[in-house]
Amino acid sequence: MILPPKSAGFVFVESAAKIAVEAGQLVRGFYQRGVATEYKGEVDLVTEADRSSERLIRERLLAAFPEHGIYGEEGTRDRMDRAYRWYIDPLDGTTNFAHRYPVFCVSMGLQYRPPDLAPGQDGEVVAAIIYDPMRDELFVAEKGRGAYLNGEPIHVSGVSDLAEGLLATGFPSRKRHENPNIHFYQQITLRSHGVRRQGSAALDLAYTACGRFDGYWEFYLNPWDTSAGYLLLTEAGGTMTRFDGSPFLLDSREVLASNGLLHEEISFLFREMFAGRGLDPIPTPAEFAARRASRAADLAK
Ligand code: IPD
Ligand code: CA
Ligand code: CA
Repeated sequence: MILPPKSAGFVFVESAAKIAVEAGQLVRGFYQRGVATEYKGEVDLVTEADRSSERLIRERLLAAFPEHGIYGEEGTRDRMDRAYRWYIDPLDGTTNFAHRYPVFCVSMGLQYRPPDLAPGQDGEVVAAIIYDPMRDELFVAEKGRGAYLNGEPIHVSGVSDLAEGLLATGFPSRKRHENPNIHFYQQITLRSHGVRRQGSAALDLAYTACGRFDGYWEFYLNPWDTSAGYLLLTEAGGTMTRFDGSPFLLDSREVLASNGLLHEEISFLFREMFAGRGLDPIPTPAEFAARRASRAADLAK
């Protein structure tokens, strides 16, 4: 594990990163041995690796930060009245993990919630750790102290034209028939170098923070998916909002993240699409088949 230099003055990341790395190694062990998959929902998967990783993180955080609260995807709700609260995704990318596709991570974001926080107000995310155990990549950030990958400072990309960008998105595992994202996927694909769907929201955000992606969006995320990635991205110089450009809050389900330079171009396109404009048509499969058949008939003449 490589952390930023001591001079970076990190307060939480040093001990929390060790926890994320230990949890990541545990997950990697399950991956190498193979593990049974269970269903939480229609295609919402969970495994013993998710649960064991959350248990380990919970125990280690309690020892390292006994005053902090913990909110974990697999059900942990400890000390919810505390000023500091960890949002934990013990395994982000479970579907990849279950299918032996080696793209997943552990994500931990720490939020500070002052006691006078009004209902509907958000605390500040102050520390972030995302660890990819398959590539041994450790992304960390603390508020005001920059973002790092394996000890080196990271920055968002300098791409300023969507046409030259590589983007990422994801699709929810619940209520799949109610999700319009395939239209957004199509339109951004037509206007950029391409859109990746790698199956880990936290890594999508970390990759946008270090310039591998120029932008990322997704419908229906949770604070355990976004808290760490939000701080990494903003500390790396990026921008994260809701789709309409309004400020991102941890309970915002819709997330638009970018290097900042592309933000207005993408959110304008999204606003147009929500208003029923700006769609470049593509042929339906039936239209495509008819054209293909007609071309084949012409050639046969
Ligand atoms: C999922 C991943 C995926 C995203 C889904 C998330 P999980 O998290 O981040 O990329 O598209 O919306 O639920 O279930 O693997 O922790
Ligand atoms: Ca997740
Ligand atoms: Ca998860």
